[in-house]
Amino acid sequence: MTSSSEPLELFVDKTVFGGDGLAHYQGKVYFIEGALTGETVLARVVAEKKNFSRAEIIRILEPSKHRINPPCRYVAHCGGCQYQHVEYSQELRMKEAQLLEILKTVPGLDVEKISPIAFSEKEYGYRNSVTLHPIYSKKKKSAILGFIGKDNVTKIPIKSCLLLDDRFTEIFDKELLFKDKPEKITFKLSENGEIVPDIDEIFYRVRMGEESFLAGSQGFFQNNLAVASLLADKVSRWVASCKPDTFFDLYSGVGVFSILCAKTAARIVCIEESEASVQALKMNREEKKIQSMEIIQGRVEKLFPQAYESNKSGTSMVLLDPPRQGLSAELAFNLAKKQGIHSLVYISCDPVTLARDLKIILSLGQWQVSEIAPFDMFPRTKHLEVAVILSVIAPSQN
Ligand SMILES: C[S@@+](CC[C@H](N)C(=O)[O-])C[C@H]1O[C@@H](n2cnc3c(N)ncnc32)[C@H](O)[C@@H]1O
Repeated sequence: MTSSSEPLELFVDKTVFGGDGLAHYQGKVYFIEGALTGETVLARVVAEKKNFSRAEIIRILEPSKHRINPPCRYVAHCGGCQYQHVEYSQELRMKEAQLLEILKTVPGLDVEKISPIAFSEKEYGYRNSVTLHPIYSKKKKSAILGFIGKDNVTKIPIKSCLLLDDRFTEIFDKELLFKDKPEKITFKLSENGEIVPDIDEIFYRVRMGEESFLAGSQGFFQNNLAVASLLADKVSRWVASCKPDTFFDLYSGVGVFSILCAKTAARIVCIEESEASVQALKMNREEKKIQSMEIIQGRVEKLFPQAYESNKSGTSMVLLDPPRQGLSAELAFNLAKKQGIHSLVYISCDPVTLARDLKIILSLGQWQVSEIAPFDMFPRTKHLEVAVILSVIAPSQN
C-alpha cells in the first residue's frame, strides 16, 4: 500500500466539476486540487477515504497548454476561485464537459439538447455583491474585511477581490465601524453605484437591461447582471413561446422573471420565503402596475400545492429557481405528476442537484427536456448556472 507521504506521479484524466483533477493509479482514484486535464503532476496524498484519496500538487511535471499564472495574490488561500490558473476559454470548455458528464447520468435525458455555454464578457470585475467577514481590532469596534479561507475557518484579510466590480474598492480602503460586531456582512451595489450593506434592511435599485428593479439588502439578487440578462432573455423567450394562462414563479425573489414575462402570462403567482424580497416584490408589482400577480410569502414546499389548486386555469407553466440544494424529492415528484402543468422551467445553480431532481421528474415518463442552456454566471469559480425547459408529453390522470 502506498504511504501517504510518498509522492506519486499522476496523470490527470480530466478536471471534474468543482475543479479537482481526477487520476487513477494502481487501481486507486485520486482527486488533485487544481490539476488540469492532461497534466502529469507529482502529488502528495493529504486525505485517504474509503473509495478515493485527496492529493495536492507538489510539482507540475507536464503542464496543460491552457495553464496560466493566476492574477490574484490571495488565490492560494482564499478558496473562492477554482479556475484562475486556466485560460477563460478553456474554463468554458471544461464546464461544458462537466455538465455533459453530470447530465449523462439522468436516464431519459437527451444530452443533445444542451446548448453551447453562454459566457460572461467580463472574466473579472463582474460581481455586484460580496459577503465578507470583518476581522475586529481588539480594542475598537472597527474592522478590516476578510474572506473565509480554504480551510473554512481562517479569516484572511484582503484589500481587493478581482471578481468584484471596481466600485467596491472603497470598502477596503476605509476603516469600518460596526456597532453589533456582525460575523459577516454582505455588500451590494446599486444601479447608481452606492454600496449597500445588509446590516439594516435597505431597498435599492438594480438595473437589468431596460428594467430597473427594487431589491432588499437582506434578500437575493443575481450577481453577474450581464449574464443574468442573458438568462432572463432566454427564459422570456421560453415563456413567450408557451403563452401560459398561469405562470407560477417559485422561489421568485423580487420577481425578475415574472416582471419580464408579465405581458405573456395572463396570471402570475409568485412564492418566495424571504421577507425582504417579498417586500421588494410588492413594490415592484405596484411600480410596474402588474395587476395579474398574486404574491404568496412562505416556503414553496408547503404552499405550492394549495396555491396551484386555487390558481390553476387552462395551461400552466411553472418556473423553479431554488437555492443550491434544489427541490425536495416530494416537490419534484408532485410537480411532475400534476395535471395541467404543460411546461416546467428549472433554473439551477448546482448541476448535481439539478441532475438529481431531473431524475425524479423524468422517471414518471410524462416529461421531455426541450432545451438545456448553461450560463457562465460566475467566471473563474467552479459554479455554473443552468436553465432547463421541459414540456409534458402525456397528460397525467392523477
Ligand atoms: C436562487 S434565488 C432566485 C430568486 C429569483 N428567481 C431571481 O432570479 O432573482 C432563490 C430564492 O428562493 C428563496 N427561497 C429559498 N428557499 C425557499 C423556500 N423553501 N421557499 C420559498 N423561497 C425560498 C430565496 O429567498 C431566494 O430569493
